[in-house]
Order: sequence, then C-alpha cells, then structure tokens
Amino acid sequence: MCGIVGYIGYRDAYPVIINGLKRLEYRGYDSAGIALVDNLKPVIYKVKGKVSDLETFVGDGNRNGYMGMGHTRWATHGEPNDNNAHPHVSMNGKFVIVHNGIIENYSFLKKKLASRGYSFKTDTDTEVLANLIEYIYLFAKVSAADAVSLALRKVVGAYGIVVFCVDEPEQLIAARKSSPLVVGIGQNEYFIASDASPFVDYTNQVVYLDDENLAVIGKGAVQIKTIKNDIVNAEVRKIDFDAEEIEKGGFDHFMLKEIFEQPKSLRDTFRGRIDEHHSSLQLGGIMPVMPKLINARRLIIVGCGTSWHAGLLGEYLFEEYARVPVEVEYASEFRYRNPIINSEDVVIAISQSGETADTLAAIQLAKKCGACVIAICNVVGSSISRVADAGVYTHAGPEIGVASTKAFTAQVSVLTMMALFIGRAKFNISAEKYTELITELNSVPEKIEELLKTASAVKHVAEKYKDSSNFLYLGRGCYYPVALEGALKLKEISYIHAEGYPAAEMKHGPIALIDEKMPVIFIACQDKSYEKIVSNIQEVKARKGVVIAIVSEGDKTVSAMADHVLEVPKFNTAVGALTAVVPLQLLSYYIAVMRGCNVDQPRNLAKSVTVE
Ligand code: F6R
Repeated sequence: MCGIVGYIGYRDAYPVIINGLKRLEYRGYDSAGIALVDNLKPVIYKVKGKVSDLETFVGDGNRNGYMGMGHTRWATHGEPNDNNAHPHVSMNGKFVIVHNGIIENYSFLKKKLASRGYSFKTDTDTEVLANLIEYIYLFAKVSAADAVSLALRKVVGAYGIVVFCVDEPEQLIAARKSSPLVVGIGQNEYFIASDASPFVDYTNQVVYLDDENLAVIGKGAVQIKTIKNDIVNAEVRKIDFDAEEIEKGGFDHFMLKEIFEQPKSLRDTFRGRIDEHHSSLQLGGIMPVMPKLINARRLIIVGCGTSWHAGLLGEYLFEEYARVPVEVEYASEFRYRNPIINSEDVVIAISQSGETADTLAAIQLAKKCGACVIAICNVVGSSISRVADAGVYTHAGPEIGVASTKAFTAQVSVLTMMALFIGRAKFNISAEKYTELITELNSVPEKIEELLKTASAVKHVAEKYKDSSNFLYLGRGCYYPVALEGALKLKEISYIHAEGYPAAEMKHGPIALIDEKMPVIFIACQDKSYEKIVSNIQEVKARKGVVIAIVSEGDKTVSAMADHVLEVPKFNTAVGALTAVVPLQLLSYYIAVMRGCNVDQPRNLAKSVTVE
C-alpha cells in the first residue's frame, strides 16, 4: 500500500527515484509524486495517475538534484487526485514528507493543530503528520530528526515515512511502524524504499528498519535510533535477488511470467530441503520449534486472500499427515475475536509479502496469548518473518503481479513439506511412504513444465467464455481451496463475478444460478471424492449449465460429460492441487487480457496490504 523511494548521493536523483517508483507500483498506482532537492530547495511534482503520468507531467521541468523522495499511492484518506498525491508540504513550508500507512488519530491531531492556527490543503492524514512535525520543530526548537521522533510518539497507526527539512537540507529522515522501509547502503550513496527492488541495480547491502526505528540519512552516513532516541546497532544484510528477477523477461505481463516461472520457483522452494534420494526433508527454519509442533494441541493457520487459500490446503495436509487438529482463520477476523489460544497452540501465519497488516496483528495477538508462531513468507526480512518465533521462506522470488500465482504454489509446497516432516517425526508415516510422498512432491515442477505447454487449450476456453458475467468454481476435498483460488484470480483481474464453492454445497443454494449462460468450472481430478463430483457435474448438466472440467490426464468419464476438459497430471494426494491451480491461473490471465484489463495492476488493488 503505497511505495516510497528516497535517494541521497552523487547520482541524478530523478531517474533513480522514477525507476524505483515503477518497481514499486504494485503497491499502489492511483497517484504519484516526487520531490527533488535542487540547490538545497525542494522542487515538487505530483499528479493523479501512474508513474508514467508523473513523467509526462514533469516533462522538461527542473529535474536536477542529488537527493529526493518519491511516492506511488494507494489512497486511504482522500480521493486519488493531484492535491492528495504525495509528497505533502507542511503549512510553513519547512517539511516535505511521503508516507505509507494510516495515522489513525489524525482527526484528533488535526483538530489540535487547527486550534493552534494550522490550516490544511488536502484531505490526507499525511499532511496532518507534516504539520505536526513542523509545529513541534518550530515550537520546541529542536532538530528536524527530534521533531520527527517527538511527532511520531504522538501518532497512533502505521507509518513508513521519508521526511526532508528545508533548514537541514543535506539529509533525509526515515521512520517506520507497521509499514516496511529498507535502507540500501551503497558507496557514498544511500537509498530508502518500501522494499529493496528500487535499488538492487546499485547495491545489495541493506538494513531493514524495525518498528519505531528512525534513520537519519546524511551524505556520508546513516544513523539509526529508536523514536525514543536509543541508538540501534542495525545489522547490514545482503539481499539475494538481482534486477533480472524483477523484469518481465520477454513476457507481456508479470503475472504470465510468474505463472510460467512456477517450475523454477518450486525447484527453488525445494532446494536444500528435499535430499537427492527423496528420503528426507530438511526444514532448518522450524527445527528450534519442533518440540512445540510435535506436541501441539492444535494448529491455527492465519492468512488473507490467496495465502488463506493456501492455509485451507494446509488443513488437509496437516490433518492427513501430521494428525493434528487444524483451524484456518482469516487473519482479519481472528484478530478481532477473543480467540481461545494458549501455549499449547502453534499458529502458522502465511503471507507472500510478509507485510499484511491483518496477518501481522493476528501474530501479535497469538504471541500475546503465549502461542508459538511460525511464519511462511516469501519476502526475506519482511515484518512477519521477523516477528515470528520461527519460519520457512518460500523462496519463490519476487512476485510483482498483483494477482498471486507462484507464491501460492510455493506456500502450498512449504505446507506439504512441513506436514510430511511433522508426520514423519510423529511416526504417522512409514519411511517408505515418506519417500513416496516426497518423490511425488518433487515431481511437481517437471509436471507443471509439461502442463504449461498446453496453455493454448486454456486460451481457447478463455476466448469462448470471456464475455460471461458470472462463473462458478466447484471442487471437493483438497480441490475446494483450488476452486476458491480460481474464482479469486478471475474476479480480481478480469472484474467478472466468480464464486468458489465446495461442489456438494451447490445443491444448497448456488444451483439456483445455473442456466445455459453460467460457465461452471469443476476441479474434477481423480481422488477419493471423484465419484461424488461426477454426480455434481451431472446435476449441472441436467440444468443446462456449461461445464469446464479440470480432469486428471486420461479421464474418460468426466470428459464424456463436460463441454470442455483441461487435463492436468494425475496425483493420488493433495499434491494434485499444485498442478490443478495452474490452468485456472492461466484462464483468469487470458480472460483478463482479452477483456482489455490491466492484469498486473488491477483496479482498486495493491499487492501489499499494509492497512486494515
Ligand atoms: C490475491 C492476492 C491477495 C493476497 C492477500 C495476502 O491474488 O494477492 O489476496 O494473497 O492480500 O497477501 P500476503 O500473502 O502478502 O499476506
């Protein structure tokens, strides 16, 4: 939610910031702005629209300056327009600020500032923060950094900010709470951004700011302290991805690239974890908490959106192999109940970005209740991965397309490995079965590679149904979460209404929707509920519904009944979900492209949801 880039060094700041913002556009894209510091003075441009609109707006204007900050916005307070776009300037022009997050007590602060003579030009909470910093700076006569610290102590909410003060024009001040910020450390130059992608071309040395940390970034040094003024000895880490991974690599869209990358991303997920004989698994990240996992009274899986769907698959896997009761919760619901959790529970939090506000809050609640928390995250060094007691990275590589694809299959793969690992440790699985299951899992990348060669068959189905207004996705057992995921993919990028249901629930309501205009996608792979789903398909056909079926290769029964079939590899276990989801990802992609939708940046969405 909103992307921030700051730069201070010897290069022209404009291209560094603009190119960096383009890499962060997945975080929000309804307005964009930049402040360059030229001759110690800020020059500001901001506009409704995307970063490319900002470039057009800047045109031949002054682009000088070796430092500056930029912002790409996902609106929270105030509609997306030029005025509400960041950067914001304080009333007397002393401070310039970009902000990601929400100042929850902004209206209280606004009233206080108004009573002291402050007026406001925008509807944003960010302008309130800019004015609060300025008020403290002028009133208390402290340094700019101290004014920022003191102001942040009065703030309730989430912030990732970069601040410039006209009186101290050779430094940027950055601070965060619940919204990510990473400092990139180059040779005599520094970067600050919502993630490392804007500066991977320049440096791989980073410092992840912790909550309530503040960095004062000057031309030759960075000083990090808490907002209460305690010095922080931050660790400089090396990041593990390069610029190539965040380019489209010849594909039309990141989403398509990421779908086709799944064989590679899954191999990366398995690397170092599955041994060459497929007889053992190494999950170093959870070793310290294995006694907790083995003795857990219950597992609670929390996540949002696609990550929650992965969690539903985790329920099947953990119950089947680890034989432990599992509850799967939307993080946003869990955090506002009064859930009964104690130290015998283990909470598994799933998040691609590792920054989702609801999931983070659910973890904090679980930890407060004494539960052990394990994170499954993709983004290394993310907030969720750092607050958890233990974790397993998915190593799927950067996911830029807003619709999650490769992160989902990587999450499910990690959950499968965890379930098998715990199941074996509890002696629920024989050594022979263990090897068989690991071998099956390890074969998935190759199977997806083959499956992707049949993408044109999916395109053909997309062509036929691209103008439908509604879709129903039905599956049973481990294919029910796949149905939910297929429906989510379609609605978020093509804006077609789609619903996922357990197939047997259809007759309790959704069957009323079925007519000759309603495409019904059945995930009808051969597993223990196959016979039942065949009956469900007959029920739809009897009502003239159009059936598109995902079937196991070689299937004859469903193929004879369905209007279209898309074959996927045959598996006897929940591993089948990893391949069954691929044609659904492709179907939503092709339909969205055919409808002229912006696949990588769907309307109203952002990749990393760092607000409630
Ligand atoms: C759907 C999608 C979202 C995310 C959700 C959670 O394609 O991307 O539903 O899955 O916002 O995000 P993470 O996994 O980053 O916590």
